[in-house]
Amino acid sequence: MSDIYFSQIREDSLVEREISRIVRPQKVLVVGSGGCTAFSILTDTINQVLCVDVNPAQCALIELKKAAIQHFSLNDFLSFIGETKCDNRGEMYEEMAEELPEYARHFWKLHRSEIEMGINHCGINERFYRFIGENICRNVYDETVWNQLFSAKNLAEQQRFYEEYLTTAQWRTAVKILLSKTTHLQFFPSFMFKNASEHDFGNFFLSQFEKEVKTRPIHNNYFLSQILFSTYLYDHVEGVPFYLTPEGYEEVKRNIDKMFIYPMSIQNLLEKENSIDAFYLSNVFDWADEKGKASICSRVIQAKSANSVLIFRNMLSTSILPDRFIRDEELSLRCETLERSMLYQKITVGQFV
Ligand SMILES: C[S@@+](CC[C@H](N)C(=O)[O-])C[C@H]1O[C@@H](n2cnc3c(N)ncnc32)[C@H](O)[C@@H]1O
Repeated sequence: MSDIYFSQIREDSLVEREISRIVRPQKVLVVGSGGCTAFSILTDTINQVLCVDVNPAQCALIELKKAAIQHFSLNDFLSFIGETKCDNRGEMYEEMAEELPEYARHFWKLHRSEIEMGINHCGINERFYRFIGENICRNVYDETVWNQLFSAKNLAEQQRFYEEYLTTAQWRTAVKILLSKTTHLQFFPSFMFKNASEHDFGNFFLSQFEKEVKTRPIHNNYFLSQILFSTYLYDHVEGVPFYLTPEGYEEVKRNIDKMFIYPMSIQNLLEKENSIDAFYLSNVFDWADEKGKASICSRVIQAKSANSVLIFRNMLSTSILPDRFIRDEELSLRCETLERSMLYQKITVGQFV
């Protein structure tokens, strides 16, 4: 079985929550990854969440988070996943192990050290971001400098921070090296970067980061604090994924039985599904070739309900979908203004007609 790539999702579920609030879907398909979006949309008003990931390791992770939500209080859940200190994660796992599906139990039997470490930190992506954050804090600017940015009171203060710290050759060179294709390839398989050149990610992040710091409040940007310090911002509104807030955790606990986890491709799952009101597709089209993209679209068309909505993100490239797809400009722009992860150049919300 493959490894876990994403312990946490680096996509802002404010986007999917906003669309769910507007569209009120009953049945949703959501890409699994680290599970944060699926758990954060599991509200009282929804009937079914189909959470799908072609990587069974991601599904084993989501199954374990699901079981832990059922078993533990929020504080114990945070300890178990590695957000706070804990010296009995192994015992906590044993309490739940029997309830996991066979494939997930088998996965965790082979990955006990990841349970001990805390499953919110065990992904390859998390290892990559720890490497980036530790390097930046050790060699470029330490925590005291970054805390000035997180405690900035307004955009003018953030802009002054930008001019002072983020225009220097030291910062720009460090980002380019740390986010180069060469560095990525130390952590990720090459197929993920076949269309990227050496400095695409570094240049992209520099411009995304500039936009974020100059134009949007940073104080609750937990994506940035995760990159720099591997922590959420518990003391701030929207400083953690919704399901990790006291209110969100109670809601997901109440609704956890509405969530179904499928270790398979979207295409395979949709072969047997229908009446889906919303498709929250992460950035899967960045991962698919033209044939894969076409097959996902044709399955979506076949499995959708009458007014079904679709969301997808694009990182470096953009995706053109078949003519039957109509982008909702207003909603797409609204979602782009909500997204704080800085990793996507475009978010598309729309419908197949
Ligand atoms: C598209 S990736 C991107 C990661 C994401 N941006 C994040 O921050 O977590 C998310 C997940 O999609 C899964 N995936 C990619 N293509 C898929 C497909 N056709 N069907 C099901 N899952 C897919 C991958 O295994 C991965 O775990």
